[in-house]
Formats: sequence, structure tokens, C-alpha cells
Amino acid sequence: MPSSLKGPRSNASFSLFDTRSLSSNDIREIFETASRFDVDFPKVAKEKIVCCLFFEPSTRTRMSFQTAAYRLGHQVLTMELSMGSSLSKGETAVDTVLNVCAMKPDVLVVRYGLSRELDEILPTLAIPVINAGSGTLAHPTQALLDAYTIERELGSIEGKRVLIVGDIRHSRVARSNFDVLAKLGAKIGVCGPESLLPDADGDLPPGTRVFTNLDEASGWCDVYMGLRIQLERHTAQDLQLDSLEDYHRHFGLNRDRLKKLGAGVLIMHPGPINHGVEFAPEVVEDPRSRILTQVTNGVLIRAALLSKTLEGTERGGKK
Ligand code: CP
Repeated sequence: MPSSLKGPRSNASFSLFDTRSLSSNDIREIFETASRFDVDFPKVAKEKIVCCLFFEPSTRTRMSFQTAAYRLGHQVLTMELSMGSSLSKGETAVDTVLNVCAMKPDVLVVRYGLSRELDEILPTLAIPVINAGSGTLAHPTQALLDAYTIERELGSIEGKRVLIVGDIRHSRVARSNFDVLAKLGAKIGVCGPESLLPDADGDLPPGTRVFTNLDEASGWCDVYMGLRIQLERHTAQDLQLDSLEDYHRHFGLNRDRLKKLGAGVLIMHPGPINHGVEFAPEVVEDPRSRILTQVTNGVLIRAALLSKTLEGTERGGKK
């Protein structure tokens, strides 16, 4: 890689690859900035260029980064798979990243699937990077907006029982949530079929309750977070499920469970939802649902992160 594209980054600017690099104080600081933006988005004195590179599909993450950037007064460039990039001519993701970096945007927001090459190269770039979801490993901005939503809705996270249900083994959202929720003092429970739960010695934080019976689990929780069965990464056969209907019967928030769920329980989902699989169709409209509140809060959290990242960059400077 040409040395001009390599770090160290100027002014120790902030990148975010994984929430594991954040302390609970860092997380609180991000929440405080997000809350300030909820009142007002002050326009920046000098606009920057935010470059969104999406090697995997996205609606919420991509558009909320774009919205956040525009609200702050920045310019946004977006490249996604469907937009006719030179990826369709066989250009590699690494070459794509290097070429975009050579244009010297001020920050890269990147989503990608499993790629050791990108895992290795992104932290070495001279410009800051925010991970918008990588493989099955991490989705830091989703976990931050989830925790922010719980804190705003319930007043605090400390001691709250957060149940994560579904395809936990393959979920970057679950992995990042385990880290953030544990740092903020939540009690964590997981529930799903054995084939979708992590190995016992895997990623679960100490003290996590593992449920195989959803009726028991849903009586335990203050927050019910459903996860999507990632059908694009696996077949139902790989997942050892007889059928999606069978999954819904055993591990879906169906009508019957919805009726029995506690009055104060928050229902959350990172989206996109497989209606009729992890959630019955009426869940989104239920008064306990905070699914669209999560999306609204996603703009605030991403604005807070862009603001933190771009504070330390100098456009037109020495890059
Ligand atoms: N939650 C989430 O990452 O949604 P998108 O894939 O639509 O960005």
C-alpha cells in the first residue's frame, strides 16, 4: 500500500472497529452527545466528506449515517454494491478501499462481510474508519444505539434484564451488544435453538442466562430483543430447523407470547424483520415496541460518532 494512505492518523482521530475498544465512560460520552443532538443539530463550521462504502446491503445503517452527516452539515459520498461500481468488473474490496482513500475523504464508514483482508487493512489507513457492520464479528453502532434506546426508555441499564432471542451464533449485533450491555451493567439472557446459540465457552459474557424455553425466558426479561434469522448466510437446513413455521412456534414472539409479555417490557429488533418468523406481524405496532425508536436513535448515535471522529481531522491539511 502506498505510504500516503497509511496511518498514523492525524491528531489521533477516533476510529471505531469494535465496541471492545470503548470504556463505559466513552460510551456515556457518546450517549451525552447523542442526547444533545436530540435537542439540536448544530451545523459544523467546516464541512467534511463522509464516505460510505457498503459491500453488503443495508437500509437503516447506511441511511442513518447519511442523515446524520447531512444534519451536521457534512457532504456524503456513498458506494454500495448495486450502484455499478468496478467491483462488478472484478476489482477487489481492498483495491476499492485504497482507491477511495486516495481521494482523501475525511472518514470512511464501511460495511462488509467476512474478509480477513479488510479486517487487516482498515485499521492501517491514514483516515478514520467507522465499522458499519463486519461479517459475524461486530456491529458497534447498532449496539450503541440499542443500549442508548434502553437507557432512555427505562431510565438506566444497570441491572435490567435484556433477553436476546434468535440467531445469536451468527449475529454481529448480538456480539457487540454483549460487550456494551455487560459494560453498562445489564443482566443478559439468550434464547434460541441449540444450533443458533454460541458454544458454551464462546462469546457469552460471564453470568449470561441461557434459556431454551422462550416462555420461561420472556417471563424473565425487561427487554425482549429479537434477532433476524440470517437466511442469506445460511439455509434452514444448515440451521437444523425443520421449517420457519416451526421456528416461529418455538422461538418466535407469536400472538400468544405477545399477550403474556409484561406490560413494561420493551420490544426491540435491529431490523430487518422476518415477519412471521421471529416476530408475529402485529409486534411492530404493539405499544411496547421500540423498533422504530431504535431507528430514530440510530441517527443520533451515528451523528455523535461522526462528530467525535471528525473533531480531529483537518481537511486540506497535511494528508
Ligand atoms: N440493523 C441493521 O444493520 O440494519 P441494516 O442492515 O438495514 O443497516
